Parts: sequence; structure tokens; C-alpha cells
Amino acid sequence: MNYRHHYHAGNFADVLKHAALLRLAGGLQAKEKGILYLDTHAGRGGYDLSAAAQGGSLGRAPEWPDGVGRLLGRADLPPELADYRSAVLAFDEAARARVGGEPGASPRFYPGSPWLMVGRLRPQDRAVLCERHPEEEAFLASEFAGRRRVSTQAMDGYAAVKAMLPPPERRALVLIDPPFEAQDEWTSIVGAVSDGLARLPGGTFAIWYPLTARARVDVFYRRLLALPKLPPCFTVELLIGGETAGLKLWGCGLLVLNPPWGSAAPLDAMAKWLAPVLAQSAGAKGGVHWLVEES
Ligand SMILES: C[S@@+](CC[C@H](N)C(=O)[O-])C[C@H]1O[C@@H](n2cnc3c(N)ncnc32)[C@H](O)[C@@H]1O
Repeated sequence: MNYRHHYHAGNFADVLKHAALLRLAGGLQAKEKGILYLDTHAGRGGYDLSAAAQGGSLGRAPEWPDGVGRLLGRADLPPELADYRSAVLAFDEAARARVGGEPGASPRFYPGSPWLMVGRLRPQDRAVLCERHPEEEAFLASEFAGRRRVSTQAMDGYAAVKAMLPPPERRALVLIDPPFEAQDEWTSIVGAVSDGLARLPGGTFAIWYPLTARARVDVFYRRLLALPKLPPCFTVELLIGGETAGLKLWGCGLLVLNPPWGSAAPLDAMAKWLAPVLAQSAGAKGGVHWLVEES
């Protein structure tokens, strides 16, 4: 459990994941009935980018300037990214006010998936946020203490899929966003998807994955496709460089099962728009690829 999201907060992967997450939530919320948002690997909720900028024991440079930082001055954002940027800036403004800070030209605070989604809950929705790292979980719990409709859980995110589904609402958006430190992470994800679909066949599951080796992702897809009754699903991927560009993490994807109707086209356009803007070397590209088409 060495992973800390702090250095990565607001990087290209967060941009894709968080903007897509908001779009998926919006699609589900087109219907009146409430949803459960289950964040299996929630992190600490929000991040102080000024702390990331100071480095730390690992001495790593913050990654947000090449992620959300590249969207700040753009006047031509597609709607999904304009919505995402507004949410980031609103969070920054509120968090600065909390610590008595002045507004600044670039964000100091960046919302993780918990704060982004809690900001979108309607009165009929609720959120369950799971985190296993003791320090991150303690911070997460303090962030949301006393909030109605938000529960933080110090528990294993994969166990939470079994424990929390099916929800009384019978509708859920589940984000599975692990650190990929463990050798068996991909296996755990396939198990969680299988468990989750057995408990809530119509649930929307969004799984973030890194692109460091295409062969590993292909095995993951094959194992998912072998699950019985796999519902409609697509991947939205963003490559910031080609596989041979020498980048350790040259891209990432979000696998979406049971996507809300009509979400593929805007996410495809968003990923295609992001690729040249967030590129770090030649070969950047993005888009949606259906694994199981909607019928
Ligand atoms: C990529 S970060 C989460 C980022 C967050 N979802 C966001 O978008 O802001 C992954 C988190 O999972 C936590 N974690 C690792 N293994 C876990 C497990 N089995 N169950 C729950 N949380 C876990 C890590 O401590 C880390 O905070």
C-alpha cells in the first residue's frame, strides 16, 4: 500500500477519468430515480496541489500541469470538459475559502472522484466511498463527516462491491479505480465485475486501467468477455504517446459496462479532442471502442 494519488492528482489520467465520470453520472441522472454512487478506491477525497508541487520524500514533480493545467486557458473545450473544468474550479474556490486563501490564476486544490461526485448528488442519490489506506481513509472520513447521504468506509473496495450491491435504489454507478500495485489487480477487477453484475445486472460499472502494456489489457478484455451475459460495454481510451515513445504510462482507459444511453459518442469526441491537447509525444490518440455493442 505505497500508492498515494497526490502526485498524480489532476494528471491526464484524472482528466479522462473524472470528465467521463461526470458525463456518466449526468446520463444516469437523466432519470428521476435515485442512484448509489459506489467509489471502491476513493483516495482522500481532494488534493492540495501546492503540497504536490513541493515534492516530498519521493521527490517527484506534480503531474497536473500536463493534465488539467493544459485545459485552464482553453476557450474551445467540448461540453464534457467545460463541465469538468467548472467542477474543478468550483472545488478549488470552495477549498481555498475554507483555508482562508485568495483566489489564484491556477488551481491550488483538486477534487478527487469523491468530491466531484458528492457535488453532483441529488436529494435522492447517495454515495459510499471506500478506502483502505489508513491515512487516506482518515482524511476522507474527516472530509465528509456529518454529510447526509455520504458514507465513508474503511474497507477493501472489492469486498464493498459484494457488501453494497444491490442497493435499495436498484440503480448504481460503481467506480473501480485501484492503484495497480498488486500483481493480481486485474484478476480482482474481473472478480468484482462478475460479483457486481450478479448482484445488479443493470448497474453501471466504470473501471479505470493503465496502459503500460497492451498485451495485459488484451488479456483483461478476453477474461471479461468470457463472463456470462456480459452487458453492453465500451472502453474510452486516451493515449498521450505511442506505445514505443518511451513513456512509462503512455495512456489509460475507462471500461464502462452498462453505459447510460447516448454516452459513447460524446466520450469518443472528448477523448479525440484531448489526445493532441494532452500529448506528451508522437502517437497520441483517443476514442471509444465497443467490446459488446448495445442491441
Ligand atoms: C487511484 S487512487 C484513487 C483515486 C480516486 N478514485 C480519484 O479518482 O480521486 C487508488 C486508491 O485506492 C486505495 N486502495 C488500494 N487498495 C485498496 C483496496 N483494496 N480497497 C480500497 N482502497 C484501496 C489507495 O490507497 C488509493 O488511495
